[in-house]
Amino acid sequence: MLLCLLGIASSLDAGTNTAENHPQLSWKNGGSSVSGSVTVDANWRWTHIKGETKNCYDGNLWSDKYCPDAATCGQNCVIEGADYQGTYGVSASGNALTLTFVTHGQYSTNVGSRLYLLKDEKTYQIFNLIGKEFTFTVDVSNLPCGLNGALYFVQMDADGGTAKYSDNKAGAKYGTGYCDAQCPTDLKFINGIPNSDGWKPQKNDKNSGNGRYGSCCSEMDVWEANSLATAYTPHVCDKLEQVRCDGRACGQNGGGDRFSSSCDPDGCDFNSWRLGNKTFWGPGLIVDTKQPVQVVTQWVGSGTSVTEIKRKYVQGGKVIDNSFTKLDSLTKQYNSVSDEFCVAQKKAFGDNDSFTKHGGFRQLGATLAKGHVLVLSLWDDHDVNMLWLDSVYPTNSNKPGADRGPCKTSSGVPADVESQAASSSVKYSDIRFGAIDSTYK
Ligand SMILES: *[C@@H]1O[C@H](CO)[C@@H](O)[C@H](O)[C@H]1NC(C)=O
Ligand SMILES: *[C@@H]1O[C@H](CO)[C@@H](O)[C@H](O)[C@H]1NC(C)=O
Repeated sequence: MLLCLLGIASSLDAGTNTAENHPQLSWKNGGSSVSGSVTVDANWRWTHIKGETKNCYDGNLWSDKYCPDAATCGQNCVIEGADYQGTYGVSASGNALTLTFVTHGQYSTNVGSRLYLLKDEKTYQIFNLIGKEFTFTVDVSNLPCGLNGALYFVQMDADGGTAKYSDNKAGAKYGTGYCDAQCPTDLKFINGIPNSDGWKPQKNDKNSGNGRYGSCCSEMDVWEANSLATAYTPHVCDKLEQVRCDGRACGQNGGGDRFSSSCDPDGCDFNSWRLGNKTFWGPGLIVDTKQPVQVVTQWVGSGTSVTEIKRKYVQGGKVIDNSFTKLDSLTKQYNSVSDEFCVAQKKAFGDNDSFTKHGGFRQLGATLAKGHVLVLSLWDDHDVNMLWLDSVYPTNSNKPGADRGPCKTSSGVPADVESQAASSSVKYSDIRFGAIDSTYK
């Protein structure tokens, strides 16, 4: 009986086929150099039978044989260590991390990646952004329409969820425990258990599908960008920790409506183009995306209170202040994100203000004070082709706020970008965290 209890406990464990060697990435905290490393999200990892090389998950499907139900699946299957460069197109050197879009590996074709900064082998680095500044250099010159090089924070557990969920043995070391404000249901494991029950393959995605459950938590999008468009966007959730959702309670991803989850899926975005300045961000423009650019973000506040998120860019040794809004419908001009800006922007665009409904900056302060994990990713969009970032969306709309960037409404189709822009990449480097106005020149 005791053996039996011990034997079935572990549902998400790591295999021994490939050693997990985290790429090293150094960064600066308050001016001091920190030797960090990154780990790729569990979703990207090979999932196979324990002790054998048979797949538990292949393409966009779970094996009927090894995963007839989540509990059996968890007992049968493990996730593997990663060959970062060969399989995922991820390379780190000194303080720089480069993510390549499509990688033709020995066993598979990989699309995009999502990585987390680690403090040590088993623990994510936790950042409390309140009253602080986060700065990095990014090269988006090789990111066309439809791609998104994203650097952001989410309220994941520092250990990936091993303390909270005894089924999770793999932990942060193997990139487990992801959550965000879209309550994604495409995760293969949630709370240490396979999300295989009710799994539906995604029609236009050979690599992914959606399960019954999703994983929700607050998200601070510092950076979502390609060479044609960029936005920064806080999103808040009702709970101040990662929580699993079921079906409709996961919002649109779970088959519910867009606003039926406990999170704010839209967030409150600052996109210079969308807010009326079409000459600010792009190739050869005021912030020239043909060159690397230093991006500075500041969270004004203290304790559990944050009131404003400011942005500056630095290029060629020159500090460029964020653009101001230029919209007829706004009586005041803004160049930062705050409760006042969010209410005014949502009203001007006729958007549902779910950011304010879920607590706005009060809730943002509460979640940021708990600490967030840094995410570095590159992705394409199998739902709406990234048009919400870089084109006109909804595509047939001429309402204020629909025009978000210069890309064509026919752009960003995953099949097109994955074949035509396969070698695209994004390079993040020189991450610096510290007191406001201390990390850039
Ligand atoms: C866009 O931003 C730049 C830099 O702040 C400014 O010089 C320019 O006038 C702005 N354009 C519009 C249309 O607001
Ligand atoms: C707006 O969002 C709230 C939740 O934040 C939701 O309850 C409501 O139904 C939404 N309204 C519309 C028109 O979608």
